[in-house]
Amino acid sequence: MNTGLSGVPSFEQLARVPLYVPGKPIQEVQRELGLNRIVKLASNENPWGPTEAVKARVASVIAGSEFESLGLYPVSDGFYLRKRIAERKGLPVEQVVLGNGSTEILEMIAKAAFLDGGSAVIPKHSFAMYGIATQTAGGRVIESRASATELDVEDILRSVAPDTRLVYLAHPNNPTGIRIEGGTLRHLVRHLREDIVLVVDQAYAEYEEPGEYPDAATLLGERPNLLVLHTFSKIHALAGLRIGYGLGSPELLSLLERVRSPFNTNHLAQAAAEVAVQDVAFEAFCRMKNTEARAAFTLEAAKHRCKLTGTSGNFVLLETAYLAPELFKELLQRGVIVRPMQGYGLPNHLRVTLGKPEEMQTFWNAVGPLLDGGC
Ligand SMILES: Cc1ncc(COP(=O)(O)O)c(C=O)c1O
Repeated sequence: MNTGLSGVPSFEQLARVPLYVPGKPIQEVQRELGLNRIVKLASNENPWGPTEAVKARVASVIAGSEFESLGLYPVSDGFYLRKRIAERKGLPVEQVVLGNGSTEILEMIAKAAFLDGGSAVIPKHSFAMYGIATQTAGGRVIESRASATELDVEDILRSVAPDTRLVYLAHPNNPTGIRIEGGTLRHLVRHLREDIVLVVDQAYAEYEEPGEYPDAATLLGERPNLLVLHTFSKIHALAGLRIGYGLGSPELLSLLERVRSPFNTNHLAQAAAEVAVQDVAFEAFCRMKNTEARAAFTLEAAKHRCKLTGTSGNFVLLETAYLAPELFKELLQRGVIVRPMQGYGLPNHLRVTLGKPEEMQTFWNAVGPLLDGGC
């Protein structure tokens, strides 16, 4: 570290926190490689949206109105959007908090929980931001056991330390695509020490069939220390606007309110999400397209004798005999951006977002010859 900054203990600690590595943006690949056509299957974005209704609402905000002028601050707590979300979820508005992406809520809860230090239990192969949010807020990470194919909830319970304040759990998980069954979720909600906040991150929940998905929000009445997260970045196709929400007890959310930055979500995002959250038909359409894309990918993967992990989310985790960073580089040269998963402890796995049929065809055309007859 630069000498002027070294010697500051918190900076030295911060320098050891891993950096979040985002999916490579299309413009960057275009600039570096001079390619015309690029297919990005790297960040689990939704290729089917946003809808015309959402775009029209955003355009109306840009055109300007009495309350939503871009020169005015937005509604600080996003009351009107929270009300829409509360209606959709059948909860009081006091049980909804907004974030600049659900990532911001991951950071808010970490800031609240680790004000006086402590630890978080995070299963192996979890979304990178859980560890980063914990460490940048001064918390310590305890990694519980998990494989690429199975989440070990008993090990989460066993890994809890006296100073544990948080448990993060994605349901379904990114990047493994594993979701947990209702009984297992209830077991965790009921047996985790009462003073620990259980964060159940349901960023990909809307891709599950509603009747078959064990929604952690149904357990909010059982545990005041439960925070359920959702995002508008995935099925609602608003990743560029940065907006997500959390559901929790009024007591827990009143604490988050103390660490929430004022005006953390903007006019455009609030307005777009108000329309998106009511559009059940668009969600159903994207869910169907995603199911079709997964089925087609599974067929194609079998032809190449590739192993797939997980069943959930708008992505697949593909295991190969090759080193994922090498395959990633080769695919990049061919204009296809995927995500190598070595940073998640999966050196032979690529995560591929399920895109439109023509995008998936481009992926297979590019990767097929590289696999040399098989995964
Ligand atoms: C499991 C999981 N949680 C949260 C997020 C963050 O979403 P947002 O765009 O709302 O910050 C992601 C993004 O990929 C994710 O995979």
